[in-house]
Amino acid sequence: MTQPLVPRIQLNDGFSIPQLGFGVFKVDPAKTEAIVTDALEIGYRHIDTARVYGNEAGVGRAIAQSGIPREQLFITTKLWNDDQGTQSVFDAFDASLERLGLDYVDLYLIHWPSPANDRYVETWKAFERLRESGRVRSIGVSNFLVPHLERLLAETDTVPAVDQIELHPYHQQPETAAFAEEHAIKIEAWGPLGQGKYPLLELPEVTDAAAAHEVTPAQVVIRWHVQRGHIVFPKSNRRERMAENFDVFGFELSPEEMDAITALERGGRVSSHPDEVN
Ligand SMILES: NC(=O)c1ccc[n+]([C@@H]2O[C@H](COP(=O)([O-])OP(=O)(O)OC[C@H]3O[C@@H](n4cnc5c(N)ncnc54)[C@H](OP(=O)(O)O)[C@@H]3O)[C@@H](O)[C@H]2O)c1
Repeated sequence: MTQPLVPRIQLNDGFSIPQLGFGVFKVDPAKTEAIVTDALEIGYRHIDTARVYGNEAGVGRAIAQSGIPREQLFITTKLWNDDQGTQSVFDAFDASLERLGLDYVDLYLIHWPSPANDRYVETWKAFERLRESGRVRSIGVSNFLVPHLERLLAETDTVPAVDQIELHPYHQQPETAAFAEEHAIKIEAWGPLGQGKYPLLELPEVTDAAAAHEVTPAQVVIRWHVQRGHIVFPKSNRRERMAENFDVFGFELSPEEMDAITALERGGRVSSHPDEVN
């Protein structure tokens, strides 16, 4: 399988991102180099990490030894809540870049708004400066809800390229998604498989479509995200599942199959409310 099969999504700043990538939340730092090497061999070219995952260095080693030209890769990392501010952003970014062994990252995200600290506007202004320096191509946010996005739009000059939010059939965040669409902010869906915490892959709406297309339930859910236009990066420690999750461009869900999965919404988040993560 080769990367050209993965569509690219155009961002509001002129750059584009492979719609399907590989996430490394909860990938053991000691195993990250080997696991990301597997992902790159399978064909993934978009990797989503974060300072707080503790595995940026493993991602960096896998990239370095892959021999894949830098411009073919799309690397995202995220600023942790403790590092919000101005100088602390620059210091945290330098440290992430060094651990990754890169000259620039493609996308840098504020991991959570952390509203109790009330520093996300200041942090975003520091992100704007990082982007001007050329060491970050695109800047975005994560776990921002409409009030947080409204404040950024009112008080700063840059509309985030993306908002990375928890999004799977049980928790689709329609208000945030609609606001994002209205403002040309692309949605990245984290926890696309519900982190395995819900029986998503056993529901008839999913398993019936899987049987009809001779694919797996996970492929149906990832395909649902793709057809909804989400940027998505499922995580797996297992090579056979990485390959399975990457192989979602050879079938198409019907409008009825899409609607049945969309109707599964029940507000079932797997994480804390973003206002409570500080
Ligand atoms: N911005 C944020 O706050 C935030 C929060 C969470 C996640 N994220 C990002 O989003 C990425 C994806 O989300 P996630 O890792 O939380 O959850 P996820 O991708 O929804 O689910 C991962 C779980 O699903 C299992 N799985 C993967 N492929 C499968 C398949 N084909 N069949 C059955 N089970 C499968 C994995 O188990 P095995 O590993 O055993 O296969 C793992 O337990 C993360 O890695 C991270 O990059 C961001």
